[in-house]
Amino acid sequence: MGQLELNQDILNLKESATLKINQLALKMREKGEEVFHLGFGQSPFPVHAKIINKLKDHAHEKDYLPTLGLLSLREEIARYYQANFQYDFLPENICIGPGSKEMLFQVLFILEGPVIIPAPSWVSYGPQVNIRGKEITTIQTSESNKYKLKAGELIETCQKLGDGQKILIMNSPNNPTGAVYTESEIASIAKVAKENNVLIMSDEIYAQVDFSGTPKKGFYHFYPEGTLVTAGLSKSHSAGGYRMGFIATSNELNPVIKALASLVSETFSAVSAPIQNAALMAYSNDADIQKYIQACTDIHSLCGKYLSQRFNQIKITTPDPEGAFYIMPNFEFYREKLMAKGVKNSKDLCDLLLKECKVAMLPGSDFYLDETDLKVRVATVDYDGEKALSAYLSGEELNEEFISKYCPRLQGAMNSLESFFNKL
Ligand SMILES: Cc1ncc(COP(=O)(O)O)c(C=O)c1O
Repeated sequence: MGQLELNQDILNLKESATLKINQLALKMREKGEEVFHLGFGQSPFPVHAKIINKLKDHAHEKDYLPTLGLLSLREEIARYYQANFQYDFLPENICIGPGSKEMLFQVLFILEGPVIIPAPSWVSYGPQVNIRGKEITTIQTSESNKYKLKAGELIETCQKLGDGQKILIMNSPNNPTGAVYTESEIASIAKVAKENNVLIMSDEIYAQVDFSGTPKKGFYHFYPEGTLVTAGLSKSHSAGGYRMGFIATSNELNPVIKALASLVSETFSAVSAPIQNAALMAYSNDADIQKYIQACTDIHSLCGKYLSQRFNQIKITTPDPEGAFYIMPNFEFYREKLMAKGVKNSKDLCDLLLKECKVAMLPGSDFYLDETDLKVRVATVDYDGEKALSAYLSGEELNEEFISKYCPRLQGAMNSLESFFNKL
């Protein structure tokens, strides 16, 4: 056998920091050490029983399904998005995939043109673009604007990139910041996109986890002819491991769905039949499931706001989250004292805080921020979701006492950080 040759674009990808810190934290836990895990962001709640039962009922279904997914599921998704978001998706413009991540990957593979993201942004966009042999163009946002992209900043970047087709990836509610764009912010960005030949990939995986309780008009409302929406069951329905997501768009962008149908047919073929049937239940607008989504969102809101308040109290600044289950604290106030302990960047900061405070968090540099920014990504979900949800549904009030009782590790993490920074 000759020398083993591997694709250099893949070898250049580094192991995701999210997984690395997760493994490290789990190893520490295995050794019996208490670790407050604010690194890994997975919805902690159980999947709703009605969805589980539907999955069981269909476990015997073994046939391959159509490449774009079950027609009945695509119709149900269209109805669900009409009822909840006033989107006019048609079933023929929807493609079901094994998670929205795979749908994003395949569409980024299909679309030509440079890819723009606001920084900070979710970790996987960059590697997905790199696999395609392209680089991502970042636009640094500011803490004072809650890390949201401004329309003017997009204009500047478009001018640099020229007249050709460009792709902008937007994500609201946002991972890693918890920010939610207002309708007027969305309208202004959509207008710039329209005028500058920019397609918008609108990652709406957290759309139902919006603390205001009222869904916002998304990019699709203002710019349907240039927007592709991705979403799925992972966050709102706490079913990341089901691997069920989709992409949806307008008639104008139907050629993308057609190209996707070919790519899907040559790669994963179709999402499994039992999962697609379970998803039919998830998107049926069932009153119990909608109540469940609202209850989970209320608990995410409590935990996110609790953590941001406690960080702000010790001068580690972070905007209050408005959705999703993350916040992005900034440790700038302590820069000199941290430097004296050898902290030069956000990675050093995370290493130090895991060692000294037993709190696992992710460095902002993995989310496309400058390495020297002392910002980290905090996930707000280190608690037993089953217990917390059942307590809330039985009438317990969402307040600080609820955190002490059902989310003690969040409180433990903040006590540990507070005592470290008070002594620093
Ligand atoms: C911002 C964002 N987009 C997309 C995804 C992918 O979700 P899934 O592939 O489970 O649908 C995630 C999951 O962590 C995410 O945080």
